Amino acid sequence: MAKVITIAQQKGGAGKTTVAAHIAVALSQKGNRVAIIDIDPQGSLGCWHSIREERFGEGYTGLIFNSFSGWRVASEISRLRKQCDYIIVDSPPHTETEARTAIRSADLVVIPVQPSPTDLWATKATLELAKAEKVPVRVVMNRVAANSRLAQTIAAELPELTKATLGNRVLFAAALMEGRCATEVDPSSVAAHEVKELLKEILAIFNDGSEEEEVEQVAAKSSAKSKKKVLADA
Ligand SMILES: Nc1ncnc2c1ncn2[C@@H]1O[C@H](COP(=O)(O)OP(=O)(O)OP(=O)(O)O)[C@@H](O)[C@H]1O
Ligand SMILES: [Mg+2]
Repeated sequence: MAKVITIAQQKGGAGKTTVAAHIAVALSQKGNRVAIIDIDPQGSLGCWHSIREERFGEGYTGLIFNSFSGWRVASEISRLRKQCDYIIVDSPPHTETEARTAIRSADLVVIPVQPSPTDLWATKATLELAKAEKVPVRVVMNRVAANSRLAQTIAAELPELTKATLGNRVLFAAALMEGRCATEVDPSSVAAHEVKELLKEILAIFNDGSEEEEVEQVAAKSSAKSKKKVLADA
């Protein structure tokens, strides 16, 4: 059964679509079957996916794209749950009925917040909605400028913050322009690294990060053992 991650934020332009696309692609790059659902009438995620189809070919984008509205949102999410590993839902600004339904259907709500007072104030409504629906939530600071005092002040006001933040980087926007994501255009870029760190935190919430941690722990133990052996042999 798929895990559903809804990207929500009442404030327009906070980075919902950018975060949705980047998380979806990063999950797909890890070999997961990923569906993306655009429930925003603006259809930005759909536009991005069309460009992606032109680039990679229909059926070769690594993502299953869907666009729904109204009463179909909940039923289509539960239908897709059986077909993939993750479902990423990009929701519209404002706490409209669809966004509410997408939050209710989610296993995790991710709220992007830009370091501005208006983003901060708008975030409270989305946080309350997720709380009312008893869905776990994580807030991600987006478009953070290096050493920004304002970002630090705003972060101090926010609960459920991820350690990972996304910087204000042209690559996030430029990659979407060509139907791709930062992790594809330049996997060694800072933007790509930030996305991978964010994904690690998200997977840890679902305990899907445990495998990677185990591998790291085994590696650390075996390196400690070989160090001991070297000392004993010396
Ligand atoms: N980390 C970032 N660095 C640089 N530009 C960014 C970043 N995140 C988002 N943007 C840009 O900010 C603008 C708004 O982002 P996006 O469309 O993802 O927000 P949104 O929350 O989906 O907006 P809406 O509420 O209208 O759906 C876009 O032009 C996008 O390219
Ligand atoms: Mg959007």
